[in-house]
Amino acid sequence: MRRSPGFFIPCLAVAALATATTPLQSQVRVASPDGRNQVTVELREGRLGYSLARDRRAVILPSLLGFEFRGAPPLRDGLRITDSTRQSHDEWWAQPWGEVARVRDHHNELAVTVEETAAPQRRFILRIRAFDDGVGFRYEFPEQPGLGGFEISDELTEFALADNARAWWIPSNWARMDRSEMLYSSGPMSVLDSVQTPLTMEFTDGRTFMVIHEANLVDYARMFLRGTRTENRLLRAALAPMADGVKVRGRAPFVTPWRTIQLADRVTDLAPSLLGLNLNPPNALASTDWIRPMKYVGIWWGMHIGTMTWGSGPKHGATTANTRRYIDFAAANGFGGVLVEGWNTGWDGDWIKNRNAFSFTQAYPDYDLPALAAYAREKGVRLIVHNETSGGIQNYERQLDSAYTLYRSLGLDAIKSGYVTDTTAEGHSHYSQYMVRHYRKVVETAAKYGIMLDVHEPMHDTGERRTWPNMMTREGARGQEYNAWGGDGGNPPEHETILFFTRLLAGPMDFTPGIFDLLIGRDSAGPRRPDQPRIRTTLAKQLALYVVMYSPLQMAADLPESYERQPAFQFIRDVAVDWDTTRVIDARIGDYVVVARRERGGKNWFVGAITDEVGRTLDVPLSFLTPGRRYVAEIYADGPKANWLDNPLPVTITRRPVTSATRLRLVLAPGGGQAIRIRPQ
Ligand code: NOJ
Ligand code: CA
Repeated sequence: MRRSPGFFIPCLAVAALATATTPLQSQVRVASPDGRNQVTVELREGRLGYSLARDRRAVILPSLLGFEFRGAPPLRDGLRITDSTRQSHDEWWAQPWGEVARVRDHHNELAVTVEETAAPQRRFILRIRAFDDGVGFRYEFPEQPGLGGFEISDELTEFALADNARAWWIPSNWARMDRSEMLYSSGPMSVLDSVQTPLTMEFTDGRTFMVIHEANLVDYARMFLRGTRTENRLLRAALAPMADGVKVRGRAPFVTPWRTIQLADRVTDLAPSLLGLNLNPPNALASTDWIRPMKYVGIWWGMHIGTMTWGSGPKHGATTANTRRYIDFAAANGFGGVLVEGWNTGWDGDWIKNRNAFSFTQAYPDYDLPALAAYAREKGVRLIVHNETSGGIQNYERQLDSAYTLYRSLGLDAIKSGYVTDTTAEGHSHYSQYMVRHYRKVVETAAKYGIMLDVHEPMHDTGERRTWPNMMTREGARGQEYNAWGGDGGNPPEHETILFFTRLLAGPMDFTPGIFDLLIGRDSAGPRRPDQPRIRTTLAKQLALYVVMYSPLQMAADLPESYERQPAFQFIRDVAVDWDTTRVIDARIGDYVVVARRERGGKNWFVGAITDEVGRTLDVPLSFLTPGRRYVAEIYADGPKANWLDNPLPVTITRRPVTSATRLRLVLAPGGGQAIRIRPQ
């Protein structure tokens, strides 16, 4: 076995100490229920490490565990194992909404108690859970005399990869660490510098896929991974700092988030990713009846393409008249919500600099909030309230109760929030413990008021929707809005085929699909400037994204007028947003994805297929359908000669009978896709 440099230090003093105190045990193991994934925890020269094997083949080599503190020695050296306990667990639990209705939590657990041999003899527990789809481990500091309050300056956890696997990543700009809205790169993991999680990797054997991420981030800093850019293929945990440089302030008893390593033999087995959900506590809400996955429209795209403004003036989007029009449109098409951005005062001038000027209760004079809330309710639709903070965290927290009280009094139960900012007004990293606490506080306060959340510029998703199912969806990646802005070229056709296997493994994403006016006001694809804004997909691919890019709040993002006289709009009206079952039928990261999902509590199936800039023909067996039953497939395919570059609009809509024995031949145009509803006959 190769050794990682952090775990095996040539430190004689420590080695002597370790031999002087004979450890109770120096190696303990735990395996997944199917026996394939095995974690070994071991002490070498007084340092604690772990390794992970799949089918007896190393996938993570011995990797260091421990901490550095401000004002206290590191918790790393001169350790001994004093105890270990085991448990097994097998339980099915139900999701109020999700990609699947029921989840099996089947794991074997090992808890290893570790103690310093010398004063102050600090103690921690390393808790490991081994599942068939991966492993999670976390540190726990029990209450103890030698460890009260502490300040973590670094977490020493390593992930020493056994293979120079191909990785798909977005960087974490080390100075700022505040942006997840970037295009993905891919290459051997040995070239990684500092990257965000989920970090998805394909081993060179093509038969092992690994995703490193975290679960149940409650009161800690967000984890990034830092490579050493050397041959040793070592990744180290790196935590986002608060303004004073400290990463985590805590007091024992204390637990860290879980560090998760998802494993699969085939790429199609990576999604839906359930490992992180199993590592979050069960639902904390007494009732979830009020939580409704839904489709929504909004006064939104107009601001991004420049036909409307958030701030006051002649182009103000959030007017009473305009909102009534959107409410009528939503009601006519069966959508549950209408998002209105720019309704509240604070947008005038530089709204990013003026972050403390936002009011979350005071509407602009041309927007009648109570009347619109009532009008929407009459029509069976609900307003989605927009709260852009631009990082004025204290300004927002001060208003949380008064704002949420107002929304509830008007019967409004959904908020889209935003955190467009580099660091917070207080100087903390966007992903620091300070912000983790803030996002949690908002989720818990919203739950108290019966409010669902869609968070833009969020903390990355670590599965909190299991405990707080009002935490519906979030952005946290480069969404459709980038196509409206031009500049650096929007999102390339491969973008969503990577997002599906990276960001979306963490949880739902409010990508905002469904742009039909793909050339944004222009009549033909060419001639054009390279920086001219446009959508780099075909229209059929926009439909397919409703099935591929999972979100329980799913937007029909274009202007209502863009859907007029568009037969393909029927698919957006029909598509479900909540699922009993999800199956990834076929995929290659960065190339194409085919997903089938059965709607929650129904018999309809939906299939979404998307491709990158390469056109392809895919053979899709419908063996997921109930045998013996007859169905009709409504197929929205790329039309003749369609391609994203200069002929993106043609869509062919056909119907044909199908059964579980049918194999569909999906012809996807370059940058194209296909969306299918399959309903029982
Ligand atoms: C960025 C969000 O992603 C976008 O949806 C929103 O319109 C703007 N911020 C303004 O809050
Ligand atoms: Ca954004």
